[in-house]
Amino acid sequence: MKIALLAGDGIGPEILAEAKKILEILRKEGQPIETEEALVGGAAYDATGEPLPAKTLDLVKRSDAVLFGAVGGPRYDTLPRDKRPEKAILGLRKECDFFANLRPATVFPELADASTLKAEVVSGLDIMIVRELTGDIYFGQPRGVSGNKGERVGINTMHYTEPQIRRILHVGFKTARARGKQLTSIDKMNVLETTQLWRDVADEIARDYPDVRLSHMLVDNCAMQLVRNPRQFDVVVTGNMFGDILSDEASMLTGSIGMLPSASLDANGKGLYEPIHGSAPDIAGKGLANPLAMILSMAMMFRYTFQRADIADRIEKAVRAALASGLRTADIAGTKSKPVTTTEMGSAVVKAL
Ligand code: IPM
Ligand code: MG
Repeated sequence: MKIALLAGDGIGPEILAEAKKILEILRKEGQPIETEEALVGGAAYDATGEPLPAKTLDLVKRSDAVLFGAVGGPRYDTLPRDKRPEKAILGLRKECDFFANLRPATVFPELADASTLKAEVVSGLDIMIVRELTGDIYFGQPRGVSGNKGERVGINTMHYTEPQIRRILHVGFKTARARGKQLTSIDKMNVLETTQLWRDVADEIARDYPDVRLSHMLVDNCAMQLVRNPRQFDVVVTGNMFGDILSDEASMLTGSIGMLPSASLDANGKGLYEPIHGSAPDIAGKGLANPLAMILSMAMMFRYTFQRADIADRIEKAVRAALASGLRTADIAGTKSKPVTTTEMGSAVVKAL
C-alpha cells in the first residue's frame, strides 16, 4: 500500500498529522503500508514556484493512493491563475484522470443537532453525491477573457463527450446498486443541450441496471429539494459544476463540514482522498481544526483503493467511539460542550482504534 501524503496549506498539515498516527498503528500491526510526503498547493509554490511540482506529480503517479489535506489561502489569491494552489488539485484530477468523485453526506446520530435544519428533517440522512471531475465547464475550451476594457468578453465552455458521461453514470449506477438502489441524475436539460445529452445517455445506460431506479431532476429543483426533503435522495450523479455546488449544499445539511470525507477515483481504483472542507486559513495552526474528515477520508481509501473494508470499518467505528465519548472539536461543539483540540480528538480516535 504505497500512499502519497500531501498535506498542503492551512489546517492541512495538522489534520494529516492525526491521520498519520493511525497509519503508524496499522503499520506496526503488520499492514504493508509505505508512505512518502511531498509539497502541494501554496506550500509548494512558496518552495518551488509551482503549486504542483513535477516531483509531486511523479510521486502521485508512483503511488496507489493519495491522502490530501487542503490547499489555498488568501496570500495566494492574487497570483496568476496557473500558479494558484487550486491549480494543484485541478491538475492532479486531470493528470491522473481521477474522474469519479464520491462525496457522502451522512448525519452521524451523535451529531443530529449540529445541522441548521431541524433534526427531524436531517436525522438519518445518508446521501452519496457522485460528481464528475475531469470535464464540463471546468476544463472546456475555449475559455478566457478578451477584448478591450469596457468591451471585454468572458467565455467558459460547458463540454461533455458521451464516453465521459457514460463512465461517470456507470459509477453512479454501481454505487446505487451497492446502497439503496435509487439514482437521481441531475441536469439542466430545459436550457442546456450538453445536459440533454447527459439525460439521454443516462436513460440508455439504465437498461443495464434494471435493479436500480433512475430518476432525473433539474439542478435548480435539486438545490431546493436538498433543503426541503433531503432524505428522498440515495445516490445523486451529476457533472463537475453542478456537483461542486450541490455537494457543498449537501454537506451543510449535516451541520459539520469538518466531518465529511471524499474520494476521487480513476478507472482502476487508484484514488485521491481528501476532506471536503478547505484549508481554513483563519484557524490554521491553532489546534482548532477537526481531524475527523481527514481520518474518514483515510477510511474511504482503505475501502475503495485497497479493498480493505475491515480496516475502513474499524477506523469509522473508532471515530464513532470518540464522538460517543462526548468529545467535540469547536466546529461541532455547539454551546453545550467544551471543545477539544485537533490533537485531543486525533488521540481519542487512536485510543479507540
Ligand atoms: C472542491 C473545490 C474545488 C472545486 C476548488 C478548490 C478548485 O471547491 O473540491 O469542491 O471547485 O472542485
Ligand atoms: Mg467545491
